[in-house]
Amino acid sequence: MTRIIAIANQKGGEGKTTTVTNLGVALAQKKQKTLLIDLDPQSALTAGFGLDPNNLSQTVYDILVEPDTLVSQVIHPVQTYLDLLPASNRLATAEVELIPEIRREMRLKLAIEALNGWYDFILIDCPPSLGLLTTNALCAGTEVLVPLQSEYFAMRGLQMLLEAVEKVKTRLNPHLELLGILATMYSTGTVHAREVLDELRSAFGDKVFDVVVYKSIRFAEATVANQAIIEYAKKHKGALAYMKVADELIGEAA
Ligand SMILES: Nc1ncnc2c1ncn2[C@@H]1O[C@H](COP(=O)(O)OP(=O)(O)OP(=O)(O)O)[C@@H](O)[C@H]1O
Ligand SMILES: [Mg+2]
Repeated sequence: MTRIIAIANQKGGEGKTTTVTNLGVALAQKKQKTLLIDLDPQSALTAGFGLDPNNLSQTVYDILVEPDTLVSQVIHPVQTYLDLLPASNRLATAEVELIPEIRREMRLKLAIEALNGWYDFILIDCPPSLGLLTTNALCAGTEVLVPLQSEYFAMRGLQMLLEAVEKVKTRLNPHLELLGILATMYSTGTVHAREVLDELRSAFGDKVFDVVVYKSIRFAEATVANQAIIEYAKKHKGALAYMKVADELIGEAA
């Protein structure tokens, strides 16, 4: 069965796209057939894989707004074992265009059902909001992974996100589970980051990944080079962290 993981956090700049990119590349390197879905009108995931969002004839927008669109025709192979369903900024209008439609929360779920379990993993990069796009990701998903910057202000939004996940679970998608919270941009040596992590662990226990992703300028450098950190600096502890999360997902954790 395909594991469909929505990478969500309504706060901007928490490491969603970085997590989707690196986890996707890590899973593909471990020979897991993986599809990445860009569900953010900012299209950073799409651009990160070298596709020009302004130059695509069809994107995830068409999948959502035109249910007759064949999902397989919108998917681009980007690496061995790794495919991408791209976005463009046109996606920003989908939330408004879908308002009069029935079952508008289910558009993504219905579209990817046509993929018939072909992939081992599907990772969905959500936009920084709790609007209809994120709700579509939560309805399509079997799990949700929350990347969270190791800062106090990031924690404040977490409760709201978890309430939204609960709401979707009760009303729309009973199969949805919280896979875990991944601490990102963790600064070694700061008391603040340590305290935030301790607080997270005491509140959410084993729902917090043991692995933390350290803060490093190498992530920005990798983005400039249009690569995942796993490709740009594969021995870097940021790359190793995402490899470890991938191992946990495929049940190879030591
Ligand atoms: N561990 C890290 N250390 C340092 N910088 C990081 C790390 N992870 C991500 N970044 C950088 O932080 C910025 C925000 O990350 P990213 O784009 O992944 O967040 P996001 O949650 O997808 O943002 P948005 O909500 O805007 O979509 C990027 O410039 C990225 O390169
Ligand atoms: Mg993003």
